[in-house]
Amino acid sequence: MTTATPVSPNEAVLTEALAGLTSFPQKTLPPWLFYDERGSALFEQITHLPEYYLTRIERTLFSAHADDILRQFLTPGAPSGSPLLVPDLFTIAELGAGTASKTGLLLHAALLLQPALLYQPIDVSAPALHAADQALTATFPGLVIRPQVANYVADPYTLDHPSISPHGSPFHPASLTRSRILALYIGSSIGNFTPDEATTILRRLRTHLQPGDALLLGTDLAPSRQKPLSTILAAYNDAAGVTAAFNLNVLTRLNRELDADFRLPAFAHRVRWNAAESRIEMHLESLLTQTVRVAGHRIHFDQGNTIHTENSYKFTDEALEVQLARSGFTPTHTFHDPTRSFALTLAHTL
Ligand code: AVI
Repeated sequence: MTTATPVSPNEAVLTEALAGLTSFPQKTLPPWLFYDERGSALFEQITHLPEYYLTRIERTLFSAHADDILRQFLTPGAPSGSPLLVPDLFTIAELGAGTASKTGLLLHAALLLQPALLYQPIDVSAPALHAADQALTATFPGLVIRPQVANYVADPYTLDHPSISPHGSPFHPASLTRSRILALYIGSSIGNFTPDEATTILRRLRTHLQPGDALLLGTDLAPSRQKPLSTILAAYNDAAGVTAAFNLNVLTRLNRELDADFRLPAFAHRVRWNAAESRIEMHLESLLTQTVRVAGHRIHFDQGNTIHTENSYKFTDEALEVQLARSGFTPTHTFHDPTRSFALTLAHTL
């Protein structure tokens, strides 16, 4: 019999997993642990599931409103369909860009307005940024991509306001005007952070922006008469069991990286709606009383104990406005689908 050579554990995985699993009364694991290679592939599958409406609706909003998003960014309040004036050249940045699959719709619209465009995607995953770079460069001549590998919550990052000549030629050395930035933070990624964490992320972004710049924020919306809670619950508990596999994969990761001995059939994927916090919670419930070894530590579970693995906040218009104001932004235009399930909110700097 051969045994795998134990790899030296990643310090962040070790520290955060042990802190979470020993916390009382509620055990937790941070959601970033989902995204190892298999977890990232499972998340990609989730975005194609019939129940997971978030990605589908957000993509529809981009394809229906790309021009209007740019119009409202450049000239807030301009009537829809009015001539699109480009007072200054602009650049597009994106937090958590991943493979930037929805962003192409906006880049396409932007490149119809100006001959060249700087796109600055920021993501913790170098392979995802590389894939985005390759796909977008092949599709859009005129696009200049400046990817940055960074965790936008903790690592330093920069945003360029390249200067342009008065004749509109971008990246001109003898330039006079700084270009404006449209910063994208889409995909409901903000929903995986508590309101205080979200404020920290958005305030940090705000420090890179100046008057005339704007944020485009994609958020999933709270249940309403048009959007039953059952629709949201199904998005996190799909019939094919992909979200369950995504949730349970975090235990497989700990088995591999922290020499843990979680038995996956002894845990079940659970989804709860926390109405007071307006959020979906994902948990892993222990189906029996058991003790699990993790990096040499013994973690005890009573039957029914859970590990809280993720929050996904669902916003009302009011909560969104408060969140943006606390972070130094004011909403100037919101794009909704007909059932008001998802929103793309354009917010200018306060
Ligand atoms: C990445 N994030 C926006 C997803 C969400 O909907 O909160 C993660 C996810 N968790 C379960 N399904 C999808």
